[in-house]
Amino acid sequence: TTNHLRHLESMATHPSGAGKIPRLNAVILGESLASEEDDLVFPSHDFSQQAHVPSPQKYLEMYNRSIVDPGGFWSDIAAEFYWKEKWGQQVYSENLDVTKGNIKIEWFKGGITNICYNCLDKNIESGNGDKVALHWEGNEPDVDGSLTYRQLFERVCQLANFLKDNGVKKDDTVIIYLPMLMELPITMLACARIGAVHSVVFAGYSAESLLQRIMDCKPKIVVTCNAVKRGKKVLNLKEIVDAALSESSQNGISVDSCLTYENESAMKKEDTKWQKGRDIWWQDVVPKYPTTCDVVWVDAEDPLFLLYTSGSTGKPKGVLHTTGGYMIYTATTFKYAFDYKESDIYWCTADCGWITGHSYVTYGPLLNGATVILYEGVPNYPDSGRCWEIVDKYKVTIFYTAPTLVRSLMRDGNEYVTRYSRKSLRVLGSVGEPINPSAWRWFFNVVGDSRCPISDTWWQTETGGFMITPLPGAWPQKPGSATFPFFGVEPVIVDEKGKEIEGECSGYLCVKSSWPGAFRTLYGDHDRYETTYFKPFPGYYFSGDGCSRDKNGYHWLTGRVDDVINVSGHRIGTAEVESALVSHPQCAEAAVVGVEHEVKGQGIYAFVTLVEGVPYTEDLRKSLVLVVRNQIGAFAAPDRIHWAPSLPKTRSGKIMRRILRKIASRQLDELGDISTLADPSVVDQLIALAHS
Ligand code: PRX
Repeated sequence: TTNHLRHLESMATHPSGAGKIPRLNAVILGESLASEEDDLVFPSHDFSQQAHVPSPQKYLEMYNRSIVDPGGFWSDIAAEFYWKEKWGQQVYSENLDVTKGNIKIEWFKGGITNICYNCLDKNIESGNGDKVALHWEGNEPDVDGSLTYRQLFERVCQLANFLKDNGVKKDDTVIIYLPMLMELPITMLACARIGAVHSVVFAGYSAESLLQRIMDCKPKIVVTCNAVKRGKKVLNLKEIVDAALSESSQNGISVDSCLTYENESAMKKEDTKWQKGRDIWWQDVVPKYPTTCDVVWVDAEDPLFLLYTSGSTGKPKGVLHTTGGYMIYTATTFKYAFDYKESDIYWCTADCGWITGHSYVTYGPLLNGATVILYEGVPNYPDSGRCWEIVDKYKVTIFYTAPTLVRSLMRDGNEYVTRYSRKSLRVLGSVGEPINPSAWRWFFNVVGDSRCPISDTWWQTETGGFMITPLPGAWPQKPGSATFPFFGVEPVIVDEKGKEIEGECSGYLCVKSSWPGAFRTLYGDHDRYETTYFKPFPGYYFSGDGCSRDKNGYHWLTGRVDDVINVSGHRIGTAEVESALVSHPQCAEAAVVGVEHEVKGQGIYAFVTLVEGVPYTEDLRKSLVLVVRNQIGAFAAPDRIHWAPSLPKTRSGKIMRRILRKIASRQLDELGDISTLADPSVVDQLIALAHS
């Protein structure tokens, strides 16, 4: 067993507890709670008993096998899926060492399958045809719909037939620019059915960003809708697509057809701009196609999708995932990390425009035959209770979201939550950024009534699925820690020189050896793939994240290493300072950036949003600084606190630190593109307050 699992081993083999968690509770609580590291939250006995992985022993047994015999471990799981032909002798091959030649990862090569078949046909054949696959909740509370597995199958087949008829073949690319309508997963599945490669572009991206992606992957067809309503705002998506398409054709890339869904509740057909010969109304043509469509069988290593993500340079990276390994990995991680059972109703608030929506709205859940909620709108429309209204309406049992949403709802007050029952909930999940312990606590205590374990899942667009995550029921959680690695994942923490460090430590988070869901390349740029991810620390996949491991082997993600601040030679994770600040009862949210400092090299600059109604005073400033001094150390005390009525966030809720750094360093003429912000006026507010 690797070093970081020693603590779990001791839990599993404790003489008087034989792995029973309550005994350990006593042992650990016997020590003083020195810090967050010692803050353990135990799953209830009842939860553990019914869980897929009920104890540390069970996990260790499975984990150890997954590391010692990855081929055997993953083939046993893969055998539960449908394969037209079995993979070759070798389950996987890998080279993650740039000094030994090109980076190459393959899983189940030679195996012939289809992920759409496994999501739909297989579930129908096993008797789940009448089970609801998708519940769709519109922006307006009284607009909704649902599709059973059989109905979803029929819709997917009709669209697949349309695509084929319009010249889309295996390996062709289709760009999908749709909001959270059922047509979004339908289009993804239809592409997969015929072996086409989908590239979903989040429908909050500008025409410029869409254009960039069209130019890079040259799609055969673009699928969109005319408009969407998010809260009270109507967004004219078709206009954005029109702009991108006309620009692309002027640059030599012309897209043959633009299939447009009429999203009636947002905009009528008559009000939509139209280009004859290119644009096609979805509702006019797709329903006329047959409701069955033969599957195009593909190799496990044939591409499934491209998803663009931001790198350190301006050019987005086209992360490429293939079929077989991704299928097995998303299905398995979904099942274990959420302790998924057939009776669960699952809601992930992520948009399909991001990896979370690929792996854990669409593929992972549908491969498991789950009932999935899709929500078109925003979490605070018509008011901040909407999420819990939806939870009660559909009796959601698993609720998966992002810390930013947790914090923003936390700020709006408990009243919006406690107004609803939420009794159906049994597992909560978090993703996207480190969840600070106080938000974790609120999520756990208020939303989950202190009953529901939280799976804080660490992973990335590149990893395809969860890498470090709690398995609810298997071991105690520590608020803010993603805990231990998933099966088959060997996380290592390395120092600057790429040397693995053992025991209690912090450093760069890397992964040794491959896992089935890993991305295989950056589209059209295998060099950049090797340079970005494999050259920094030869022999390992480098995540770009910092991480520490505590004395019990729990992993604590500290944020991107590009966000690390170096103050007088001390490295300070911006996430650490933020977590300290938001633990202050009057602080709702904080974002910290480094600024040039004459003496210290870098100083710490903190943007702070206060709890609604709390006035900003000099005393409060002092006590905020004190909280950081007390929790991290004097060296980490912010040099400047900048009052921020709200923070600049992308539409997906990520804080745009690039902009904060410029404001902090007063480089106001270098703010760059602020059009991707959910609310660009936030920037002016902050600039005005910089002088106060
Ligand atoms: O810094 C980590 C953070 O999000 C990054 C990956 O972003 P993206 O590819 O957009 O995927 C987001 C959804 C998987 C990581 O490098 N991150 C993601 N999940 C967590 C996290 N940081 C801490 N804890 C997490 N649970």
